[in-house]
Amino acid sequence: MKKDLRRVVIAGNWKMNKTRSESTELLKQLSDISANNDVIVVTCVPFTNLETALAVTKGTAIKVGAQNVHFEKNGAFTGEISADMLKELGVEYVVIGHSERRQYFGETDETVNLRTKAALDAGLIPLMCVGELLEEREACITEEVLARQIKLDMAGFTADQVKKTVIAYEPVWAIGTGKTATAEQAGEACGFIRSVIAKLHGNDVANAVTIQYGGSMNAKNATELLAQADVDGGLIGGASLIADDFKAIINAAVSG
Ligand code: 13P
Repeated sequence: MKKDLRRVVIAGNWKMNKTRSESTELLKQLSDISANNDVIVVTCVPFTNLETALAVTKGTAIKVGAQNVHFEKNGAFTGEISADMLKELGVEYVVIGHSERRQYFGETDETVNLRTKAALDAGLIPLMCVGELLEEREACITEEVLARQIKLDMAGFTADQVKKTVIAYEPVWAIGTGKTATAEQAGEACGFIRSVIAKLHGNDVANAVTIQYGGSMNAKNATELLAQADVDGGLIGGASLIADDFKAIINAAVSG
């Protein structure tokens, strides 16, 4: 019941894949996805493909997202892109705090917090990523890690900002490894994240937040993962680069 109140978001994170011509080809293959008010479909493409993606997806049910955003409005930040720049293009979503950015590019909970706030201020919808490392799961501190990330990454948020943020639970050990969290593990972790939000902001806010699962989600396991009460969609890497696989995941969400 409560799940019916939430937006289901199926988002493809293309990471550093697809040139402009390759993007056009993939997006054209996806363009017949039919609009559905209950399931939002997003493709998060490299910065260089945003304009192309917006043009190719015009009039389709596919929304376009970026994969990062800087927290300052403008200035001497070579190589960075601001929220206003994305917004003016027509971009609606942005991935923030992906574990690859935390791991390889020095992203911290503090910068995730700043970037997410900047995105919200500009009217973008953040897909804010959290998740534990393998050693943290093995040390049985998954909940501690997730609680800390949610508290720090959303520090100072109003209830309305929390509600507008889509949270992606991505256990780092399941990303690109072919090792999916079991549906039960995914459901438990997403439920735990919701309970942390409930403690901070109350049940109404917690029940309104979309929480995705990400990590080796594919055409075969999507139905089971998406059937979990607290899993409201997916953030999909590898399988979002193959039109038929991404469509199968969308279908699993639509018929779920
Ligand atoms: P994979 O689906 O390739 O495991 O990637 C998940 C991910 O990192 C999405 O952001």
